[in-house]
Amino acid sequence: MEARLEKRLREGAFRQLYPPNDRVDFSSNDYLGYAHSPRQPESSLPPGSTGSRLISGNHGLYSQAEKVIAEFHRADSALIYNSGYDANVGLLSCLLQRNDCIFYDQSVHASIRDGIALGKGRAFKFSHNSLSSLKKKVGAVLPMGRKNGIEVYVITESVFSMEGDGPDLAAFSSYCREMGFHLIVDEAHAAGILGPGGRGEVVAQGCEDAVFARVITFGKALGCHGAAVLGSHRLREYQINFSRSLIYTTALPPGSLQALLRSYQWLESPAGKEAREQLRQVCTVFRDTVAALGLGPFFRMARGPIHCCEAGGNMRVKALALILQEAGFEVKPILSPTVDAGRECLRFSLHAFNTATQVREVLTILGHALKKESHGE
Ligand SMILES: Cc1ncc(COP(=O)(O)O)c(C=O)c1O
Repeated sequence: MEARLEKRLREGAFRQLYPPNDRVDFSSNDYLGYAHSPRQPESSLPPGSTGSRLISGNHGLYSQAEKVIAEFHRADSALIYNSGYDANVGLLSCLLQRNDCIFYDQSVHASIRDGIALGKGRAFKFSHNSLSSLKKKVGAVLPMGRKNGIEVYVITESVFSMEGDGPDLAAFSSYCREMGFHLIVDEAHAAGILGPGGRGEVVAQGCEDAVFARVITFGKALGCHGAAVLGSHRLREYQINFSRSLIYTTALPPGSLQALLRSYQWLESPAGKEAREQLRQVCTVFRDTVAALGLGPFFRMARGPIHCCEAGGNMRVKALALILQEAGFEVKPILSPTVDAGRECLRFSLHAFNTATQVREVLTILGHALKKESHGE
Protein backbone atom coordinates (compact mmCIF):
# COMPACT_ATOMS: atom_id res chain seq x y z
CA MET A 1 0.00 0.00 0.00
CA GLU A 2 2.65 2.50 1.07
CA ALA A 3 4.80 2.00 -2.01
CA ARG A 4 1.89 2.32 -4.41
CA LEU A 5 0.48 5.41 -2.69
CA GLU A 6 3.94 7.01 -2.68
CA LYS A 7 4.24 6.33 -6.40
CA ARG A 8 0.85 7.96 -7.01
CA LEU A 9 2.00 11.05 -5.10
CA ARG A 10 5.26 11.21 -7.03
CA GLU A 11 3.44 10.98 -10.35
CA GLY A 12 0.96 13.70 -9.41
CA ALA A 13 -1.86 11.17 -9.71
CA PHE A 14 -2.92 10.85 -6.05
CA ARG A 15 -6.71 10.74 -5.79
CA GLN A 16 -8.83 12.20 -3.00
CA LEU A 17 -12.53 12.57 -2.29
CA TYR A 18 -13.72 16.14 -1.92
CA PRO A 19 -17.04 17.42 -0.56
CA PRO A 20 -19.41 19.09 -3.06
CA ASN A 21 -18.73 22.73 -3.87
CA ASP A 22 -20.76 25.58 -5.33
CA ARG A 23 -18.57 26.32 -8.36
CA VAL A 24 -20.21 26.45 -11.80
CA ASP A 25 -20.70 22.82 -12.82
CA PHE A 26 -18.56 21.88 -15.81
CA SER A 27 -17.75 18.43 -14.50
CA SER A 28 -20.85 16.35 -13.66
CA ASN A 29 -22.64 13.93 -15.98
CA ASP A 30 -25.98 15.61 -15.24
CA TYR A 31 -26.11 16.80 -18.85
CA LEU A 32 -29.79 17.73 -18.90
CA GLY A 33 -29.90 19.07 -15.34
CA TYR A 34 -32.45 16.46 -14.32
CA ALA A 35 -30.60 14.70 -11.49
CA HIS A 36 -31.85 17.12 -8.83
CA SER A 37 -35.53 17.12 -9.84
CA PRO A 38 -37.61 15.38 -7.19
CA ARG A 39 -39.56 12.64 -8.94
CA GLN A 40 -41.56 10.75 -6.42
CA PRO A 41 -42.90 13.08 -3.74
CA GLU A 42 -45.91 10.84 -3.19
CA SER A 43 -43.99 7.58 -3.35
CA SER A 44 -44.63 5.02 -0.66
CA LEU A 45 -42.40 2.45 -2.29
CA PRO A 46 -40.02 0.70 0.10
CA PRO A 47 -36.35 1.76 0.10
CA GLY A 48 -35.14 -1.85 0.07
CA SER A 49 -35.54 -4.57 -2.55
CA THR A 50 -35.11 -7.59 -0.17
CA GLY A 51 -32.81 -9.68 -2.37
CA SER A 52 -31.25 -10.36 -5.74
CA ARG A 53 -33.40 -10.33 -8.86
CA LEU A 54 -33.29 -14.11 -9.08
CA ILE A 55 -34.41 -14.64 -5.49
CA SER A 56 -36.84 -12.03 -4.14
CA GLY A 57 -35.89 -8.61 -5.56
CA ASN A 58 -37.50 -8.72 -8.99
CA HIS A 59 -40.18 -6.10 -8.27
CA GLY A 60 -42.98 -5.74 -10.83
CA LEU A 61 -41.60 -2.36 -11.87
CA TYR A 62 -38.57 -4.13 -13.40
CA SER A 63 -40.55 -5.67 -16.27
CA GLN A 64 -42.46 -2.42 -16.78
CA ALA A 65 -39.24 -0.40 -16.94
CA GLU A 66 -37.45 -2.92 -19.19
CA LYS A 67 -40.36 -2.83 -21.66
CA VAL A 68 -40.33 0.99 -21.75
CA ILE A 69 -36.55 1.10 -22.17
CA ALA A 70 -36.42 -1.53 -24.94
CA GLU A 71 -39.20 0.20 -26.89
CA PHE A 72 -37.67 3.64 -26.45
CA HIS A 73 -34.23 2.58 -27.71
CA ARG A 74 -35.69 0.36 -30.46
CA ALA A 75 -34.24 -2.85 -29.09
CA ASP A 76 -35.76 -6.33 -28.72
CA SER A 77 -35.15 -6.45 -25.00
CA ALA A 78 -33.53 -4.66 -22.07
CA LEU A 79 -32.01 -6.05 -18.89
CA ILE A 80 -31.48 -3.67 -16.00
CA TYR A 81 -28.31 -3.77 -13.89
CA ASN A 82 -27.47 -1.83 -10.75
CA SER A 83 -24.91 0.33 -12.58
CA GLY A 84 -23.08 0.75 -15.86
CA TYR A 85 -19.99 -0.72 -14.22
CA ASP A 86 -21.95 -3.84 -13.31
CA ALA A 87 -23.48 -4.04 -16.80
CA ASN A 88 -20.14 -3.99 -18.62
CA VAL A 89 -18.44 -6.33 -16.18
CA GLY A 90 -21.35 -8.78 -16.15
CA LEU A 91 -21.97 -8.78 -19.89
CA LEU A 92 -18.36 -9.13 -21.04
CA SER A 93 -17.24 -11.60 -18.41
CA CYS A 94 -20.10 -13.97 -19.21
CA LEU A 95 -19.82 -13.70 -23.00
CA LEU A 96 -16.09 -14.29 -23.44
CA GLN A 97 -15.31 -18.01 -23.51
CA ARG A 98 -11.89 -19.62 -23.98
CA ASN A 99 -10.52 -18.88 -27.49
CA ASP A 100 -13.13 -16.18 -28.18
CA CYS A 101 -11.60 -12.86 -29.23
CA ILE A 102 -12.53 -9.33 -28.36
CA PHE A 103 -11.18 -6.24 -30.10
CA TYR A 104 -11.55 -3.05 -28.08
CA ASP A 105 -10.90 0.64 -28.72
CA GLN A 106 -7.79 1.74 -26.78
CA SER A 107 -9.85 4.38 -24.93
CA VAL A 108 -12.72 2.23 -23.61
CA HIS A 109 -13.96 2.78 -20.06
CA ALA A 110 -12.43 0.95 -17.09
CA SER A 111 -15.62 -1.11 -16.63
CA ILE A 112 -15.16 -2.56 -20.13
CA ARG A 113 -11.53 -3.40 -19.44
CA ASP A 114 -12.47 -5.05 -16.15
CA GLY A 115 -15.23 -7.09 -17.84
CA ILE A 116 -12.76 -8.26 -20.48
CA ALA A 117 -10.20 -9.13 -17.79
CA LEU A 118 -12.77 -11.28 -15.98
CA GLY A 119 -13.76 -13.13 -19.16
CA LYS A 120 -11.87 -16.06 -20.61
CA GLY A 121 -11.28 -14.76 -24.14
CA ARG A 122 -8.27 -13.13 -25.78
CA ALA A 123 -8.29 -9.34 -26.02
CA PHE A 124 -6.70 -7.01 -28.58
CA LYS A 125 -6.84 -3.24 -28.66
CA PHE A 126 -7.14 -1.07 -31.75
CA SER A 127 -6.37 2.64 -32.22
CA HIS A 128 -8.97 5.11 -31.05
CA ASN A 129 -12.00 5.29 -33.39
CA SER A 130 -9.97 3.71 -36.20
CA LEU A 131 -11.70 1.13 -38.36
CA SER A 132 -8.53 0.65 -40.38
CA SER A 133 -6.60 -0.14 -37.20
CA LEU A 134 -9.30 -2.66 -36.23
CA LYS A 135 -9.07 -4.31 -39.65
CA LYS A 136 -5.28 -4.48 -39.38
CA LYS A 137 -5.47 -6.10 -35.93
CA VAL A 138 -8.08 -8.58 -37.14
CA GLY A 139 -5.85 -9.44 -40.12
CA ALA A 140 -2.91 -10.10 -37.80
CA VAL A 141 -4.84 -12.12 -35.20
CA LEU A 142 -7.29 -13.96 -37.45
CA PRO A 143 -5.62 -14.10 -40.87
CA MET A 144 -8.16 -16.63 -42.12
CA GLY A 145 -11.13 -14.80 -40.57
CA ARG A 146 -13.30 -16.18 -37.78
CA LYS A 147 -12.72 -19.87 -37.06
CA ASN A 148 -15.64 -22.18 -36.41
CA GLY A 149 -16.54 -22.50 -32.77
CA ILE A 150 -15.11 -19.17 -31.64
CA GLU A 151 -16.98 -15.93 -31.31
CA VAL A 152 -15.46 -12.55 -32.12
CA TYR A 153 -16.59 -9.34 -30.42
CA VAL A 154 -15.76 -5.71 -31.10
CA ILE A 155 -16.47 -3.12 -28.43
CA THR A 156 -16.48 0.65 -28.57
CA GLU A 157 -18.33 3.66 -27.14
CA SER A 158 -20.64 5.96 -29.06
CA VAL A 159 -19.36 8.97 -27.10
CA PHE A 160 -16.06 8.40 -25.32
CA SER A 161 -16.21 9.33 -21.68
CA MET A 162 -12.90 11.17 -21.62
CA GLU A 163 -12.31 12.26 -25.23
CA GLY A 164 -15.94 13.19 -26.03
CA ASP A 165 -15.63 11.91 -29.60
CA GLY A 166 -16.97 8.72 -31.18
CA PRO A 167 -16.55 6.29 -34.08
CA ASP A 168 -18.43 5.95 -37.36
CA LEU A 169 -20.82 3.34 -36.00
CA ALA A 170 -22.47 2.66 -39.34
CA ALA A 171 -19.06 1.72 -40.82
CA PHE A 172 -18.06 -0.36 -37.78
CA SER A 173 -21.39 -2.19 -37.76
CA SER A 174 -21.34 -3.00 -41.47
CA TYR A 175 -17.75 -4.33 -41.18
CA CYS A 176 -18.72 -6.48 -38.18
CA ARG A 177 -21.77 -7.79 -39.97
CA GLU A 178 -19.68 -8.68 -43.04
CA MET A 179 -17.12 -10.53 -40.85
CA GLY A 180 -19.67 -12.28 -38.64
CA PHE A 181 -18.43 -10.37 -35.56
CA HIS A 182 -20.62 -9.12 -32.71
CA LEU A 183 -20.49 -5.34 -32.17
CA ILE A 184 -21.09 -3.99 -28.66
CA VAL A 185 -21.55 -0.25 -28.11
CA ASP A 186 -21.44 1.52 -24.76
CA GLU A 187 -23.87 4.46 -25.00
CA ALA A 188 -23.39 5.80 -21.46
CA HIS A 189 -22.75 9.36 -22.66
CA ALA A 190 -25.20 9.34 -25.57
CA ALA A 191 -28.37 7.88 -24.03
CA GLY A 192 -30.94 10.58 -23.33
CA ILE A 193 -29.19 13.25 -25.40
CA LEU A 194 -28.10 12.08 -28.83
CA GLY A 195 -30.23 10.58 -31.59
CA PRO A 196 -33.94 11.16 -32.15
CA GLY A 197 -35.54 12.09 -28.84
CA GLY A 198 -32.37 10.99 -27.00
CA ARG A 199 -32.55 7.37 -28.22
CA GLY A 200 -28.79 7.25 -28.59
CA GLU A 201 -26.18 7.42 -31.32
CA VAL A 202 -26.76 3.83 -32.50
CA VAL A 203 -30.31 4.81 -33.46
CA ALA A 204 -29.05 8.12 -34.89
CA GLN A 205 -26.76 6.18 -37.22
CA GLY A 206 -29.50 3.66 -38.05
CA CYS A 207 -27.57 0.56 -36.96
CA GLU A 208 -29.70 -0.73 -34.08
CA ASP A 209 -30.39 -3.97 -35.98
CA ALA A 210 -26.72 -4.58 -36.73
CA VAL A 211 -25.46 -4.06 -33.17
CA PHE A 212 -25.29 -7.14 -30.95
CA ALA A 213 -25.58 -5.28 -27.62
CA ARG A 214 -25.76 -1.75 -26.30
CA VAL A 215 -25.02 -0.60 -22.77
CA ILE A 216 -26.96 2.43 -21.60
CA THR A 217 -26.60 4.02 -18.19
CA PHE A 218 -29.08 6.01 -16.14
CA GLY A 219 -26.71 7.96 -13.88
CA LYS A 220 -25.88 10.55 -16.53
CA ALA A 221 -28.44 12.34 -18.78
CA LEU A 222 -31.31 10.36 -17.23
CA GLY A 223 -30.45 11.77 -13.83
CA CYS A 224 -31.00 8.64 -11.73
CA HIS A 225 -29.10 5.38 -11.26
CA GLY A 226 -28.56 2.00 -12.88
CA ALA A 227 -27.98 0.73 -16.41
CA ALA A 228 -29.34 -1.69 -18.99
CA VAL A 229 -28.01 -4.01 -21.65
CA LEU A 230 -30.07 -3.84 -24.83
CA GLY A 231 -30.07 -6.81 -27.19
CA SER A 232 -31.93 -9.91 -28.27
CA HIS A 233 -34.27 -11.89 -26.01
CA ARG A 234 -31.74 -14.75 -26.13
CA LEU A 235 -28.93 -12.47 -24.96
CA ARG A 236 -31.15 -11.38 -22.07
CA GLU A 237 -31.82 -15.00 -21.09
CA TYR A 238 -28.11 -15.77 -21.35
CA GLN A 239 -27.21 -12.96 -18.94
CA ILE A 240 -29.90 -13.99 -16.47
CA ASN A 241 -28.23 -17.40 -16.40
CA PHE A 242 -24.55 -16.44 -16.48
CA SER A 243 -23.93 -12.77 -15.67
CA ARG A 244 -22.49 -12.76 -12.18
CA SER A 245 -22.88 -9.03 -11.49
CA LEU A 246 -26.57 -9.40 -12.22
CA ILE A 247 -27.12 -12.64 -10.31
CA TYR A 248 -25.08 -12.15 -7.16
CA THR A 249 -26.16 -8.72 -5.95
CA THR A 250 -29.16 -7.13 -4.28
CA ALA A 251 -31.63 -5.70 -6.80
CA LEU A 252 -32.35 -1.98 -7.16
CA PRO A 253 -34.99 -0.74 -4.72
CA PRO A 254 -38.48 -0.17 -6.22
CA GLY A 255 -38.13 3.61 -5.68
CA SER A 256 -35.13 3.65 -8.05
CA LEU A 257 -37.16 1.85 -10.72
CA GLN A 258 -39.99 4.30 -10.32
CA ALA A 259 -37.54 7.21 -10.67
CA LEU A 260 -36.20 5.57 -13.81
CA LEU A 261 -39.68 5.27 -15.33
CA ARG A 262 -40.27 8.94 -14.55
CA SER A 263 -37.00 9.85 -16.27
CA TYR A 264 -38.12 8.14 -19.47
CA GLN A 265 -41.51 9.90 -19.30
CA TRP A 266 -39.72 13.22 -18.81
CA LEU A 267 -37.35 12.54 -21.71
CA GLU A 268 -40.35 12.32 -24.03
CA SER A 269 -42.13 15.34 -22.52
CA PRO A 270 -41.85 18.95 -23.80
CA ALA A 271 -39.57 19.73 -20.82
CA GLY A 272 -37.18 16.93 -21.79
CA LYS A 273 -37.15 18.10 -25.39
CA GLU A 274 -36.44 21.65 -24.28
CA ALA A 275 -33.55 20.53 -22.06
CA ARG A 276 -31.98 18.66 -25.01
CA GLU A 277 -32.35 21.76 -27.17
CA GLN A 278 -30.76 23.96 -24.47
CA LEU A 279 -27.85 21.54 -24.22
CA ARG A 280 -27.40 21.67 -27.99
CA GLN A 281 -27.27 25.47 -27.82
CA VAL A 282 -24.70 25.44 -25.00
CA CYS A 283 -22.55 23.06 -27.08
CA THR A 284 -22.78 25.43 -30.06
CA VAL A 285 -21.72 28.42 -27.93
CA PHE A 286 -18.81 26.35 -26.59
CA ARG A 287 -17.61 25.32 -30.05
CA ASP A 288 -17.97 28.87 -31.44
CA THR A 289 -16.07 30.36 -28.50
CA VAL A 290 -13.27 27.80 -28.81
CA ALA A 291 -12.90 28.81 -32.46
CA ALA A 292 -13.15 32.56 -31.76
CA LEU A 293 -10.44 32.37 -29.08
CA GLY A 294 -8.13 30.33 -31.30
CA LEU A 295 -8.28 27.35 -28.94
CA GLY A 296 -9.25 24.89 -31.69
CA PRO A 297 -5.88 23.08 -31.76
CA PHE A 298 -6.30 22.09 -28.08
CA PHE A 299 -9.75 20.56 -28.45
CA ARG A 300 -10.85 17.27 -29.99
CA MET A 301 -13.92 17.18 -32.21
CA ALA A 302 -16.75 16.44 -29.75
CA ARG A 303 -19.84 14.43 -30.61
CA GLY A 304 -21.84 15.29 -27.50
CA PRO A 305 -21.51 17.35 -24.33
CA ILE A 306 -17.97 16.27 -23.35
CA HIS A 307 -15.24 18.57 -24.60
CA CYS A 308 -11.69 17.65 -23.96
CA CYS A 309 -8.79 20.12 -23.89
CA GLU A 310 -5.64 18.08 -24.40
CA ALA A 311 -2.85 19.64 -22.40
CA GLY A 312 -0.71 16.59 -21.54
CA GLY A 313 1.02 15.83 -18.23
CA ASN A 314 -0.60 15.36 -14.84
CA MET A 315 1.06 18.42 -13.30
CA ARG A 316 0.10 20.66 -16.23
CA VAL A 317 -3.58 19.72 -16.38
CA LYS A 318 -3.84 19.96 -12.60
CA ALA A 319 -2.34 23.47 -12.64
CA LEU A 320 -4.73 24.59 -15.40
CA ALA A 321 -7.74 23.07 -13.61
CA LEU A 322 -6.75 24.88 -10.41
CA ILE A 323 -6.76 28.24 -12.23
CA LEU A 324 -10.29 27.58 -13.50
CA GLN A 325 -11.47 26.27 -10.12
CA GLU A 326 -10.10 29.32 -8.30
CA ALA A 327 -12.09 31.46 -10.74
CA GLY A 328 -15.25 29.59 -9.69
CA PHE A 329 -15.56 26.95 -12.43
CA GLU A 330 -15.58 23.26 -11.61
CA VAL A 331 -13.52 21.72 -14.41
CA LYS A 332 -11.76 18.44 -13.69
CA PRO A 333 -8.30 17.41 -14.80
CA ILE A 334 -8.23 13.88 -16.20
CA LEU A 335 -5.00 12.31 -15.14
CA SER A 336 -3.01 9.28 -16.19
CA PRO A 337 -3.51 6.38 -15.46
CA THR A 338 -7.23 7.11 -16.09
CA VAL A 339 -6.06 8.05 -19.61
CA ASP A 340 -2.79 6.97 -21.22
CA ALA A 341 0.26 8.99 -20.17
CA GLY A 342 0.64 11.98 -22.50
CA ARG A 343 -3.11 12.17 -23.14
CA GLU A 344 -4.03 13.91 -19.89
CA CYS A 345 -6.68 16.57 -20.43
CA LEU A 346 -9.11 19.08 -18.98
CA ARG A 347 -12.60 17.69 -19.35
CA PHE A 348 -15.46 20.15 -19.83
CA SER A 349 -18.89 18.55 -19.37
CA LEU A 350 -21.58 20.85 -20.71
CA HIS A 351 -25.11 21.02 -19.37
CA ALA A 352 -28.48 22.40 -20.40
CA PHE A 353 -28.26 24.78 -17.43
CA ASN A 354 -24.86 26.30 -18.26
CA THR A 355 -25.15 29.86 -19.59
CA ALA A 356 -23.42 31.38 -22.60
CA THR A 357 -21.70 33.85 -20.25
CA GLN A 358 -20.28 31.04 -18.10
CA VAL A 359 -19.00 29.25 -21.18
CA ARG A 360 -17.33 32.37 -22.56
CA GLU A 361 -15.80 33.26 -19.19
CA VAL A 362 -14.31 29.87 -18.49
CA LEU A 363 -12.83 29.57 -21.99
CA THR A 364 -11.42 33.09 -21.84
CA ILE A 365 -9.64 32.27 -18.58
CA LEU A 366 -8.35 29.03 -20.11
CA GLY A 367 -7.12 30.95 -23.15
CA HIS A 368 -5.19 33.42 -20.92
CA ALA A 369 -3.67 30.58 -18.89
CA LEU A 370 -2.49 28.76 -22.02
CA LYS A 371 -1.04 31.97 -23.44
CA LYS A 372 0.86 32.67 -20.20
CA GLU A 373 2.24 29.13 -20.31
CA SER A 374 3.46 29.55 -23.85
CA HIS A 375 5.28 32.75 -22.77
CA GLY A 376 6.88 30.76 -19.96
CA GLU A 377 5.30 32.93 -17.23
C1 LIG B 1 -18.49 4.79 -20.98
C2 LIG B 1 -18.94 4.42 -19.61
N1 LIG B 1 -19.44 3.20 -19.40
C3 LIG B 1 -19.86 2.81 -18.19
C4 LIG B 1 -19.79 3.66 -17.11
C5 LIG B 1 -20.23 3.20 -15.77
O1 LIG B 1 -21.53 3.62 -15.52
P1 LIG B 1 -22.06 3.77 -14.02
O2 LIG B 1 -21.56 5.09 -13.54
O3 LIG B 1 -23.53 3.68 -14.13
O4 LIG B 1 -21.47 2.63 -13.24
C6 LIG B 1 -19.30 4.95 -17.27
C7 LIG B 1 -19.26 5.86 -16.11
O5 LIG B 1 -18.65 6.84 -16.02
C8 LIG B 1 -18.85 5.34 -18.56
O6 LIG B 1 -18.35 6.56 -18.75
